[in-house]
Amino acid sequence: MRTETGQVFKLKDYRPTDFVVERIDLTFELDPTQTRVVSRISLQRRDGVAADAELVFDGDELSLEGLQLDGRDIDPALYTATPDTLTIRELPASVPFEITVTTVISPQTNTQLMGLYRTNGVYCTQCEAQGFRRITYFYDRPDVLAVYSVTIIARKSETRYLLSNGNLVSSGSLDEGRHCATWFDPHPKPSYLFALVGGDLGLIEDSFTTMSGREVALKIYVEHGKENRAGYAMDALKRSMKWDEEVYGLEYDLDIFQIVAVSDFNMGAMENKGLNVFNDKYVLADPETATDADYANIEAIIAHEYFHNWTGNRITCRDWFQLCLKEGLTVYRDHTFSADQRSAPVKRIAEIRLLKAHQFPEDAGPLAHPVRPETYREINNFYTATVYEKGSEVVRMIRTILGAEDFRKGMDLYFERHDGDAATIEDFLACFAEASGRDLRQFALWYSQAGTPSVSVSTDWNEAGHTFKVTLEQSLAATPGQPRKALMHIPLAYGLILPDGSEFAGQPSGNDAENGVFHLTRRKQSFTFTGVPERPVLSINRGFSAPVTIAMEQSAADLAHIARHDSDGVARWQALNEQATRYLVEASKLCRDGRNLPSAQKLAEILVATASDESLEPAFRAQALALPAESDIAREIGSNIDPDSIHAARNAVLSEVARFGADVFARLAGAAPEGAYSPSAEDAGKRALAGAALAYAAIADGGPGRAMAAFDAADNMTVLSQALQVLTQSFPAAAETADALTAFRTRFSGDPLALDKWYAIQAMMPGKTTWRRVEELLDSPDFDRSNPNRVRSLIGGFSAGNPTGFNVASGDGYRLLAREVIDIDKRNPQLAARLLTAMRSWRSLEAGRQEQARLALVSIREAANLSPDVSDIVDRMLD
Ligand code: PHE
Ligand code: ZN
Repeated sequence: MRTETGQVFKLKDYRPTDFVVERIDLTFELDPTQTRVVSRISLQRRDGVAADAELVFDGDELSLEGLQLDGRDIDPALYTATPDTLTIRELPASVPFEITVTTVISPQTNTQLMGLYRTNGVYCTQCEAQGFRRITYFYDRPDVLAVYSVTIIARKSETRYLLSNGNLVSSGSLDEGRHCATWFDPHPKPSYLFALVGGDLGLIEDSFTTMSGREVALKIYVEHGKENRAGYAMDALKRSMKWDEEVYGLEYDLDIFQIVAVSDFNMGAMENKGLNVFNDKYVLADPETATDADYANIEAIIAHEYFHNWTGNRITCRDWFQLCLKEGLTVYRDHTFSADQRSAPVKRIAEIRLLKAHQFPEDAGPLAHPVRPETYREINNFYTATVYEKGSEVVRMIRTILGAEDFRKGMDLYFERHDGDAATIEDFLACFAEASGRDLRQFALWYSQAGTPSVSVSTDWNEAGHTFKVTLEQSLAATPGQPRKALMHIPLAYGLILPDGSEFAGQPSGNDAENGVFHLTRRKQSFTFTGVPERPVLSINRGFSAPVTIAMEQSAADLAHIARHDSDGVARWQALNEQATRYLVEASKLCRDGRNLPSAQKLAEILVATASDESLEPAFRAQALALPAESDIAREIGSNIDPDSIHAARNAVLSEVARFGADVFARLAGAAPEGAYSPSAEDAGKRALAGAALAYAAIADGGPGRAMAAFDAADNMTVLSQALQVLTQSFPAAAETADALTAFRTRFSGDPLALDKWYAIQAMMPGKTTWRRVEELLDSPDFDRSNPNRVRSLIGGFSAGNPTGFNVASGDGYRLLAREVIDIDKRNPQLAARLLTAMRSWRSLEAGRQEQARLALVSIREAANLSPDVSDIVDRMLD
């Protein structure tokens, strides 16, 4: 049974449990449909709790097989067990006692992938957020920290490895071809960090010596035959361990660190203590099957999960409202890690793109919620871009406000004070306030107010007086449940760039600016610079110091000046991107009205100049060449959107740039890094530039020949998939494109992760008939609806990555998604709910599409037996 639809959980209702758990000893007898779980829990009534208070444990689809108090069966009159709760009465008032709970569960038929399930024959668990209650009755909440000991018994033939959290304490053989293993984790932890794996897997091993000289065994388990694809993940793990020691002084705390890669997983990966479980997409890579982007994701996610050991596990969350305490902070940590491993500006540009593409629309639509929500119906629906990415931006702003040194002091204090705690955002902020002596109360609004603030900027140059005045004004629109907003503390990094490209070093009047940052805390503030020799150009929100939108009338010439001279690479890209966005928004509107487009010559010039500027790193040049996506343009337009005219306008610009830079693109498209494939950031950057240039060169050619030749010559997946994307995006109807798709399909038929790309690339082909292709692919023999990666590639690729195809005016795209969501919901509600979020911006479409979208949403709302996950999303979207 699931939580009742409509039940709302509230932050303000938090209260601790009546009983304190000290230890839990679990015994699993693994069996596909009859796994027996015996859980012995030592408890004690909390001081001050009434003697007649009942013990209430959580469950989810459970059935109770046995229940004892201190080893003796409990009288059935003294307890009540339903599938989702176990209530025990008349328990000892003051002495510690032990409860033994026995349940029998069926991993084989668990299609939700929450709790204990099977994936390709491997037993595996997923407990965050509330999966433990699908295994046994317990206080399944993050503030109940216990020491776990776990014994696993299973048939040897199907479970070569038996794994759980912590250190292995014993293992041995049993009768009837069975074996067993016992694991002990000395670190108290909440149930969501529990993990168990049993399976016949391949293993790669390594080790890491910590800064204090302890040796840690590192093990990565993958499906047999894929061991040689786990090397990069292992390397990333060692670099992560080292980085956390060097940057934060944080050392690993067990003798062993294990990662298991599984092929059916709802999310990216999971930070279970000492036993991370990963979606295999974020572990497995070799040049033939993984792209440079895959390698970068593996590096980031391996780091992310490892960093959770301190930010999440050693210090966990008091309740699920505090999810950003571990996620926002850990994303921030993995971002800075990747920036250190790769090119910092290029990494930052990718982050900004991602934030704007995923978090901004969330914040602007019906699913908007604060970084720390105050209510929820289904916590699974709050693993969002807002909690993760905006949560990370908020931590980044703390660092900007405090400076590196005080930020580190605050982090040190946080680890020192809260190690072993289930903490809150207030606890976290208090550490930075104390370490720096700053008042962060206004800043704390970033955690409680939803929506993207907007800052309008105006400047005033006084030629005679040599003064330059910057006026900033903030606003924040209403979001669901928050009609009125308080003024925020917005830190805006800036620079004043003089005509010769140098930067003006003087400080503005007043004390609201320091170290190149304006602190906007009131509705409207002005900053006056004096003694400015010549009219400067303002570069504002440099490096995206605050996750806000900026409204400023800045001339194309000023933007070009920033793009050319800003000392900050990210700001240079921001200026380029701003210029491109403006043009594309304008062109889209003209296209819609059937008018001619103005020349994009200026834009083409600056893009081509950037592309061919050898003084810049290739990865940066590739980023510059990537025009704002159709969804970016739609977001900027904001309402009454017609995806077709955006597509047409963007294509027109692509053509103009392609024609203008044809020679440069032809030259760059042919360049490749020397030597054998290396996933290094440097080589990846060269391939990214060549790939971006190939796309333009192919458009300039007007035919698929060049891309087809690149496809045929490719000796790694990055180049191969780049070429295939050029073919499918620019020449969808060409015979060559069909041939390339067939060749790809044949070549990778035995490789699920590579085949996922084949599905996704087709799902994203633009046009009015793609939904038919998607329907055909849904029927193809290897389209497995129970595999989340496959579902996300095809259905997610189509609905979230194909603006013209999904939003076809007939509504066929929406109906397709609605049908699939209803169907998938029967087996995997989390996956279904997440797919549905692709429609979160439906209200910003033009009227006809809006109506089609609404009808599709209503059809979902009216479907029988919807999960709480999907009904929560659909209700919020229709409200
Ligand atoms: N906590 C995981 C992470 O961010 C994500 C996750 C959430 C995985 C819920 C599974 C279930 O690292
Ligand atoms: Zn995380």
